[in-house]
Amino acid sequence: MNIERIGILTGGGDAPGLNAVIRAVVLTAANRFGWEVIGLQRGFDGLLHDAEPIPLSCHNVRDLLARGGTILGAVNRGNPLIREVTLPDGSTALEDVSDEVLRRIDEFGLDALIAAGGDGTMAIAHALVQKGAKIVGVPKTIDNDLAQTDVTFGFDTAIVTATEALDKLQTTAESHHRVMVMEVMGRNSGWIALLTGVSGGADAILIPEIPFDIGVVCAHINALREAGRRYSLIVVAEGAAPIGGTQEYYIQARGLMDARLGGVGYTVGNLIADCIGVDVRVTVLGHVQRGGQPTPRDRWLATRFGAAAVQMVANGEWGKMAALHGTEMVSVPMQEAIQLKMVDPDGSMVQMARNLGIVFG
Ligand code: F6P
Repeated sequence: MNIERIGILTGGGDAPGLNAVIRAVVLTAANRFGWEVIGLQRGFDGLLHDAEPIPLSCHNVRDLLARGGTILGAVNRGNPLIREVTLPDGSTALEDVSDEVLRRIDEFGLDALIAAGGDGTMAIAHALVQKGAKIVGVPKTIDNDLAQTDVTFGFDTAIVTATEALDKLQTTAESHHRVMVMEVMGRNSGWIALLTGVSGGADAILIPEIPFDIGVVCAHINALREAGRRYSLIVVAEGAAPIGGTQEYYIQARGLMDARLGGVGYTVGNLIADCIGVDVRVTVLGHVQRGGQPTPRDRWLATRFGAAAVQMVANGEWGKMAALHGTEMVSVPMQEAIQLKMVDPDGSMVQMARNLGIVFG
């Protein structure tokens, strides 16, 4: 197949390293293959609305490597397979507008498309490939919860940010003899909490994969205090829930937008304060974990993913996603990557943390 022009879009929530992917795609496409690249704005929405595609050249991506966010914009509720449309009588209905997306791909003269995103973006891309679109994927998410790749870009930056925050909480916790609870992101997986908790020296880590018993956490804090440790650090994943309990949401589902997890950190803080009567403070780290410059490791990974995606286009590997297996870049079926990758409660990482004395509730 003769390729002259490809498109790139960034779907779902942003993650540090997206701009580095865009840069790597443009540089590799131009230097290695002599292709033209255009950027579609705001994910798949860029193929449905009037948002003008952005011509990308080696010149205008030069400064993108260290820049957080995405110059193309991102939306995490645009799905052309189930889109809310307004009917002539003013009411709304859900429609599959994927044929329009395919038409626009043709209209823009795109021989192929690279979609950088998480499970939602890969699910949309996979469905479009079934209808004939030529798309390859790049795995993005700070949550690191995409199956079939050892790691996603954005994750390292999130851990660095969260660990730095925990380090700062440690010094003030120590001064005031307090228990500090820090809630981190991660949706339904505990990767950010686990790596941050271990790297920042937490005493307890609560993750969605291991429902917690607050009594176990309190007993551990008490034992530490009796042994002379006057402060404690607790890392709670936003998706964590007590045994027999449910996850907490701070934004409820609205229309096509899913509910957003959050708030369990405050519940855990209050329960600890009630059961051991010590001073507890709660920090919800929120979107700072997604913002800012990507770490060098994420720049490196994002660059490798972007370059691999261009090679996959050259190979005609439609419906595949670039993935890291060990130290090697490989391509895997998007459909398999959509399965969520969870922390194994009985795996060696959790066991190592337990052996360090960290409790999981
Ligand atoms: O998937 C990335 C993520 O940051 C999750 O960790 C978090 O639950 C969610 O996105 C937040 O979404 P939003 O940016 O829409 O609030």
